[in-house]
Order: sequence, then structure tokens, then C-alpha cells
Amino acid sequence: MEDKQIHRNIEMGESGEDPTASSRKKDHIDLSFKSQVLKDMQDKRFYYEPMLAKHPATDTVSEITFLGKKMKAPLWVSSMTGGTELANKINTNLAIVCKEYGMGMGLGSCRKLLTDNTYLKDFQMRPIVGEEVPFYANLGIAQIESLIAEGKLGLIEELLKRLEVDGLVVHVNPMQEWLQPEGDRFAMSPIESITRLLDQVSYKIVVKEVGQGMGPESLKALMQLPISAIEFGAMGGTNFSKLELYRGDTMREEIFSNLALVGHTAEDMVGYVNAIHEELGDKVICKEYIISGGVKSFIDGYYLMSKLNARGIYGQASGFLKYAVESIDELRAYTEAQIQGLALAKAYLRVK
Ligand SMILES: Cc1cc2nc3c(=O)[nH]c(=O)nc-3n(C[C@H](O)[C@H](O)[C@H](O)COP(=O)(O)O)c2cc1C
Repeated sequence: MEDKQIHRNIEMGESGEDPTASSRKKDHIDLSFKSQVLKDMQDKRFYYEPMLAKHPATDTVSEITFLGKKMKAPLWVSSMTGGTELANKINTNLAIVCKEYGMGMGLGSCRKLLTDNTYLKDFQMRPIVGEEVPFYANLGIAQIESLIAEGKLGLIEELLKRLEVDGLVVHVNPMQEWLQPEGDRFAMSPIESITRLLDQVSYKIVVKEVGQGMGPESLKALMQLPISAIEFGAMGGTNFSKLELYRGDTMREEIFSNLALVGHTAEDMVGYVNAIHEELGDKVICKEYIISGGVKSFIDGYYLMSKLNARGIYGQASGFLKYAVESIDELRAYTEAQIQGLALAKAYLRVK
């Protein structure tokens, strides 16, 4: 069959008829008035290049080796605790999509599992997520500090074995801890705790913030340590300092609310990381990044990954959570849309 005829048949159906044509045309007329885009809405971050690519396949958007494993999509489900009742459902749903779409997953805080197996099965997602993608446990820097002080780092090693994870994400959250009514106080700087941890263990370690990001000096110090990756946990999305203030009394909330507004966006942090790589060159040991915190969709993820001059993927917490608490079908649909969007962005958008 001639090319022209094939295209005509695709458009019209094999019979040559186009049964939806008249309703589609009517939709177009009705909706065109609703679909006006103003010039000041333009997303100025990209060049749109419609000439240079065919429609992309979306089953493998951009395979990447990250944290020593092969991922089918450069996406990370950022650590989230779901409370005791919901943890199992949320973690199971998240693990299913990570397996199906080849994404990495960080568990929420596993603190309560250090000495008690009651909730272990809610976090034991390795059989669901499979062996192929990175799957990490999570603990706060406050627990790391106390376990070092008590000489009990062995408890972490046992926990990682029970969960069959590839390593540990350590969240560093001094502002949140301080503002949390029942929060911990750090006796050592987080960089000192992490350095001491690294001296004593051999598993992979990722370090993250929880929604305020990190400034250039913290990044510079971290990037010179033998950690496997830095997750930004940047400002612009869920903010745990703010969340803790809502849990405290009104006077504290009024006095300290401005502290929830300090921090660094993912875009700020991409800039710092690029500058530090340029400045320090070979002295940088940590060379992988999970760009997360306020990354609202694939288009932001694509933009930030393109801007980063290092190996990076993007992560979302609340974006996935919204659907993970609902149903696996909704979570699948959301994830699939992210991946399709990413493939489309890769084909037709170039970062300025
Ligand atoms: C419900 C919820 C629970 C979270 N629990 C943890 C946690 O246990 N450990 C951690 O490192 N971060 C935790 N986070 C922080 C996220 O991993 C992430 O850094 C932060 O939400 C910013 O990402 P987002 O803007 O995509 O939500 C949690 C976030 C949410 C929304």
C-alpha cells in the first residue's frame, strides 16, 4: 500500500470513513474559545523544536544507570512515612509502580523498625519492587547520631538486611527537629555524624533534606564525602518545618513561621552543584543527584535534569502520595502520564 493511502486509512479507519469527524469538529469549535493562551503564560525555559523528532516510544524513556542499578525511567519516589494504618497500602502501591516503570524508591523513616519488627512487613517491599531498581531504607540524622554515641550502628546493618535494601537514605532536618514539639536536638553537626558513619560502615548512603534544601557550603562539604548520592529535598513543595509549626501552639507558630520560608529551591541547588563541580573538579566524590522537593511535574523534572551537569534523576514525594493513597490504578495512570510527558519533552523541548 502506498504511504499516502496508509496515512489516509489511519486517519479515516479502514473503511475510509471517519465516524468521529463531525463531533470532533464541533468540539473544536466549542472548545477553541476556552483554549486561548496568553503570551505572558509562555514557558520561557524551553525552545520548542517541532521539526526534529518523530513521536517517541514511551516504554523506555531514558534508561539510566543510577546508584549502580539500571532504571527504565529517571524517576525516584522520595521517602514518605504513611502512618501505621496506611503504610502498607502506600508502600505496596509505590513499589508496584516502581517495578512496572523501572523507577527507584526510598522508603519513609524506618526508625521504628530498628528494634521492633511489628511493622516490618509494611516496609518489606523488595519482593514487590524486584531486584532491578534501587530500593533504599531511611533514617534521620538524629538516630544516626544516637546510634554512633551508643555504639549500636550494627542495628542499622541488621535493618538493611531484613529489608533487603540497597542502602540507606539519611535525612538531615535540623530545622524541622527544632520546630517539632517532640523533636530531637543534635549534639554533633550532621556532617560530622555522616563522616563518622562513613568511617564505620560500607553500605551505600544517600543524604537528603526534607523540604528546605541545602545551601552551597553544606553541598560542598557533602560532595567531598564518599556518599553515593545527594537527594535535594528542596524548598518549593512539602515543608516539614511548616508542618511541625501547625502541630505546635499558636504563639510559636507566629514567632517561628518565617523559618519555614528560608531554604533553597531545586533550581538554586542545581546551580550550586554545577558551580561546585566546576570549582572542585576531581575533589568531588559524590557524583549522583536526586533532584527533588517542589518538582511538580515531568516538565520541571526534565528542565532541572537538563540543567544539571552531572548524573541526575528527579524525585517526587507528595506528587506520588496523592495517588498512592487512592488506588493503584490512579497511581499507575499518574506515573504513566509523567513518563509520557518526559518522553515528549525529550523529543521536542530544548532547554535554553
Ligand atoms: C507524607 C510525607 C512523609 C514524609 N516522610 C519522610 C520521611 O520519613 N523521611 C524523609 O527523608 N522524608 C520524608 N518526607 C519528605 C519527602 O521525602 C520530600 O523530601 C519532601 O516531601 C519534598 O518533596 P515534595 O515537594 O515532592 O513533596 C515526607 C514527605 C511527605 C509528604
